[in-house]
Amino acid sequence: MQAIMRKWAIGDAASLFEVYNDTPDLVRQIGPISDLAAADDLLDGYRSAWDANTGWVWAIAVQDRIVGSVGVTSINWRHRTGWCWYWLGRTARGNGLASRALATAAVEAFTDDLYRLELAHRTNNPASCAVATNAGFAVEGIERAKLEYEGVRFDCETHARLATDPRPDIELLEVV
Ligand SMILES: CC(C)(COP(=O)(O)OP(=O)(O)OC[C@H]1O[C@@H](n2cnc3c(N)ncnc32)[C@H](O)[C@@H]1OP(=O)(O)O)[C@@H](O)C(=O)NCCC(=O)NCCS
Repeated sequence: MQAIMRKWAIGDAASLFEVYNDTPDLVRQIGPISDLAAADDLLDGYRSAWDANTGWVWAIAVQDRIVGSVGVTSINWRHRTGWCWYWLGRTARGNGLASRALATAAVEAFTDDLYRLELAHRTNNPASCAVATNAGFAVEGIERAKLEYEGVRFDCETHARLATDPRPDIELLEVV
């Protein structure tokens, strides 16, 4: 699938809101987003983090249509670490796009001198685990009952990729 990664732009709020509304599970990942103004606020936060060099968040687009996002945020320059995350809208899933986007974000982050990238997923989210593994993030361990949604606590599995780890054999996305 032909896809690119680019910085979120002023004016992308409507696209973000559309994908969000079409994909119920995104409320846990990036929500709640109640209206266009809230989508705008979220994108403002991404742009501020980019300006402050504390977080890099890319939109993933297919034929000019935004279908998801991947981020390296909570950057700690003292230790050169960053926290990775990713999501795709419902209709873009199942094509390997998240794995390629995460692998691409990792290359960008290592090129910009981060050394260690971390992420975690609920243990009942096998798709996210596969994405992390495909993108070269090794399993590091389980954090018990780390997250709580609607009164239920979830174990999380942590993965990390180091700048010195082998590059996974995966086609990267073009970053524009
Ligand atoms: C996680 C998410 C990005 C995956 O999207 P995707 O399009 O399925 O991702 P990819 O196609 O790149 O890879 C999916 C992998 O998961 C596997 N997978 C999908 N559903 C699975 C399931 N129920 N059990 C086991 N593996 C599964 C696929 O087989 C594929 O693995 P493979 O490439 O080794 O064959 C998407 O489900 C999403 O946005 N979820 C909501 C947000 C989220 O959970 N983000 C991660 C937070 S940690």
